[in-house]
Amino acid sequence: MTHMTEAIQMTDARAVSAKPHLPDAQTVTSVRHWTDRLFSFRVSRPAALRFRSGEFVMIGLMDERGKPLLRAYSIASPSWDEELEFYSIKVPDGPLTSRLQHIRPGDEIILRPKPVGTLVVDALLPGKRLWFLATGTGIAPFASLMRDPEVYEKFDQVIMMHTCREVAELEYGRQLVDGLETDPLIGEIVQGKLRYYPTTTREPFHHMGRVTDNLASGKVFADLNLPGLNPEEDRAMVCGSLAFNLDVKAILEGFGLREGANSDPKEFVVEKAFVGEGI
Ligand SMILES: Cc1cc2nc3c(=O)[nH]c(=O)nc-3n(C[C@H](O)[C@H](O)[C@H](O)COP(=O)(O)OP(=O)(O)OC[C@H]3O[C@@H](n4cnc5c(N)ncnc54)[C@H](O)[C@@H]3O)c2cc1C
Ligand SMILES: NC(=O)c1ccc[n+]([C@@H]2O[C@H](COP(=O)([O-])OP(=O)(O)OC[C@H]3O[C@@H](n4cnc5c(N)ncnc54)[C@H](OP(=O)(O)O)[C@@H]3O)[C@@H](O)[C@H]2O)c1
Repeated sequence: MTHMTEAIQMTDARAVSAKPHLPDAQTVTSVRHWTDRLFSFRVSRPAALRFRSGEFVMIGLMDERGKPLLRAYSIASPSWDEELEFYSIKVPDGPLTSRLQHIRPGDEIILRPKPVGTLVVDALLPGKRLWFLATGTGIAPFASLMRDPEVYEKFDQVIMMHTCREVAELEYGRQLVDGLETDPLIGEIVQGKLRYYPTTTREPFHHMGRVTDNLASGKVFADLNLPGLNPEEDRAMVCGSLAFNLDVKAILEGFGLREGANSDPKEFVVEKAFVGEGI
């Protein structure tokens, strides 16, 4: 009988040690699918991980040959959150996201704990209004920044412009913004300071049009009863496709704003939401 127990215990111990553990593993705690091409998920946070809201890390899974397959992902949760949140595209044939889209609570992902990036408040000169300009999953870094008290300490007003093709693609951002003013932790800080300006381009919605067109035509300023951008008061952070970033950059420069960096803070900063031409 004793032998039998020992045998079972040994088998159990071997089974546990044989379970593959990913390097820099973190455990998925929840997953939510927003559309057939968008989902968000939360994972455990490495105890030692410190990051500035707006930064990104490399995350991924093991490939078929047992090598880490990693991609850049903006951290969508604020720096005070005890977990980490990500907001992701599902690229049908994408090496990572064709598999990542199937993760479930309890699964492990790889997360390299080395946050970097230019979409940080430190890379901007002090100002009055802070504009967040995003398309698609480019809202991810702003999901972090919108929940960061430091942003509201440094700026009187924060304006989140988010544009997607369709209404359903705005839902992650809409629910996040809707919940902010009643959030027990930062609701009071956010109240009255955050303006949300979502638009679509390919499905009817109460506000429509590209971020670039709404800035260039002055429509967003008229709708929100704000003056046009000026380099003394306005600061901006930009995150979308390369084409979007270039077009917005030209418009911001037309208003007299200059691009800054961590080492050289100025009036706006830019980061790509993804690399590549199209799915
Ligand atoms: C600094 C940085 C931060 C990023 N943050 C995020 C993030 O928070 N969420 C996220 O979903 N992706 C983010 N990305 C993109 C991400 O790194 C991957 O490209 C994406 O997860 C797809 O990986 P994949 O291996 O499936 O396909 P890939 O081979 O990486 O991409 C295949 C093609 O899909 C398209 N594509 C890739 N990502 C996107 C996207 N997000 N939106 C629209 N089209 C896309 C591109 O055309 C690309 O050529 C970021 C990229 C950079 C450079
Ligand atoms: N979203 C979808 O339903 C869908 C479905 C299947 C495949 N895809 C593919 O997935 C890829 C990424 O799609 P996505 O919708 O996430 O990103 P996207 O094509 O970059 O479009 C996101 C939003 O940004 C706008 N935009 C694009 N370029 C811009 C620019 N230069 N200046 C200002 N605004 C700009 C788009 O407006 P416009 O609508 O005016 O372009 C759209 O509202 C694309 O290659 C697409 O073909 C998308």
